[in-house]
Amino acid sequence: MRQGRLAVKGNICYSTSIKDIAALEGGYLLAEDGRVTGVYARLPEAWSGVPVEDYGDCLVIPGMTDLHLHAPQFPFRGLGTDLELLDWLNTYTFPEEEKYRDTEYAGQVYAAFADALKASPTTRAVIFGTLHVPATRILMEKMEETGLISYVGKVNMDRNSPDGLREGTRQSLTDTEAWLRETAGFRRTRPILTPRFTPSCSDGLMAGLGEIKKTRGLPVQSHLGENPSEVAWVRELCPWARNYAETYDHFGLLDERTIMAHCVYLNDEEIGLLKARRSFIAHCPQSNMNLASGVAPIRKYLDEGLNVGLGTDLAAGADLSLFRAVTDAVGVSKLRWRLLQEEARPLTFAEAFCMATAGGGKYFGNVGSFLPGCEADILVLPEQRSGPRRESLPERLEQTLCLAGEDVHLTAKYVAGEKLFGPGD
Ligand code: GUN
Ligand code: FE
Repeated sequence: MRQGRLAVKGNICYSTSIKDIAALEGGYLLAEDGRVTGVYARLPEAWSGVPVEDYGDCLVIPGMTDLHLHAPQFPFRGLGTDLELLDWLNTYTFPEEEKYRDTEYAGQVYAAFADALKASPTTRAVIFGTLHVPATRILMEKMEETGLISYVGKVNMDRNSPDGLREGTRQSLTDTEAWLRETAGFRRTRPILTPRFTPSCSDGLMAGLGEIKKTRGLPVQSHLGENPSEVAWVRELCPWARNYAETYDHFGLLDERTIMAHCVYLNDEEIGLLKARRSFIAHCPQSNMNLASGVAPIRKYLDEGLNVGLGTDLAAGADLSLFRAVTDAVGVSKLRWRLLQEEARPLTFAEAFCMATAGGGKYFGNVGSFLPGCEADILVLPEQRSGPRRESLPERLEQTLCLAGEDVHLTAKYVAGEKLFGPGD
């Protein structure tokens, strides 16, 4: 967190609710000790001595939270999009993840990954590593250097994967304890328990992770209800469970510090359980398209008041930019409405923007908006347009996010008031 006062000037847009975007042209965004104090049309008298970082005609928007991505999958983005989840894991993912036994390879990939994430619209992220402790530690070191705030998980998996990517149950738990001891000292990078998904984790492993969670009060990330074959397999693997969500909940792994990626196929009982536990759903629309997983019923989750944010799910999702996830979330919701569920109104741009900023940001506390008290995560970027400039600032925001492309060039980026880069760097 940055100490002292920060004043940023530009065309400011941020969500004030799931439906509403506040917009102020040539406004002042003020923050003190890393937290927003307010957005003003004129610089208040009491701030007259504070230097203003004036970004002219640029957009100034909250940083985005990527609630779900896999760092070791960075090298094979864009490949394997003719496969569904389980074949894609066996063909691309597991062979790639085996390579992270080699710390030199891990160092190279994770350095490139961290650089790319730093340059992207993401200010906070919740990240899967691999099962390897040394490589995951390297990933945490690289993330710490970026200045982004993140959770990083050493993956646990003790069944249904190749010999080179499978732990013994006890080993998985002792390695997790060792990893937690070794990586306790980071400032911005925190550990998160990461059972890969039920097909990769025996009941004994889940029980052990539940114990670690309880003892240490740790957060959890995993996958849930992504693909029909996966859901059917979980039914075979855990005949004792009423549903897939219960295979986590039974071991105490679902609470308000839990993120479940995808949730495309949940029954009403599972939705009720996630709601009761106040767990987070990471909606990953591009991944769901690439692996032909389906379209998650996000309208229903929002109506139910569940916590929903967006994820890129690298490398099932190819694009690192959450701007693309915003556009895709709107796009796939229209397909669900037209083809599957007439009563499920498509998401609006404002709703998708809110999920990418305040929705996922909530996992990190008061993050993802410019309302007073929010941590000052700020993106500054030039507007994109393909014709005369439009009057409405929210429309200009919408067009900019849609046209930005993966190589979006941010003018400046701040996390909790700290400037990661800006003009002249
Ligand atoms: N389910 C289990 N592992 C994975 C993974 O690496 N990616 C995705 N998209 N789903 C998974
Ligand atoms: Fe994933």
